Amino acid sequence: METITLRVNGRAHQITVRGHQTLLDALRDGLGLLSVREGCGIGVCGACTVLIDGRPFSACLTLAALAEGREILTVEGLGTAEHLDPVQDAFLARTGFQCSYCTPGIILTAKALLDACPDATDEELREYLSGNLCRCGSYVKILDSVRTALARLRSH
Ligand code: FES
Ligand code: FES
Repeated sequence: METITLRVNGRAHQITVRGHQTLLDALRDGLGLLSVREGCGIGVCGACTVLIDGRPFSACLTLAALAEGREILTVEGLGTAEHLDPVQDAFLARTGFQCSYCTPGIILTAKALLDACPDATDEELREYLSGNLCRCGSYVKILDSVRTALARLRSH
């Protein structure tokens, strides 16, 4: 066991972890951030996606200890009920979810795309989101939501 400091959603947290503990477990069990979902547990579904220094990572494949000193963002740190992030707002406006199990990971992946590549083509958008699976099959609505967020971003 070792005590590490994780910077999550703009705040530093001291947390005791085992050497092989994943960031997924540290965020959910250690810090109670339940938006970080476990799906496959093997890096395939994207449900556990978090942003580390602005880039999407599968928290189930990332060792907690290796995330020390990096800036980690989960959906809890993205917006508030009163002030949603523009991507969250677009998902709400276009109903980009059904059960919402995949939604936090998809929203964070979309945010990373919009931040890094606001000129993304539709093909790039599909490619970028291809690592996030939706078991409800809401892909049409999800893509519609991300396109809406992109269009709003470009109009400002
Ligand atoms: S739970 Fe991490 S990719 Fe599926
Ligand atoms: S909305 Fe249910 S898994 Fe995507």
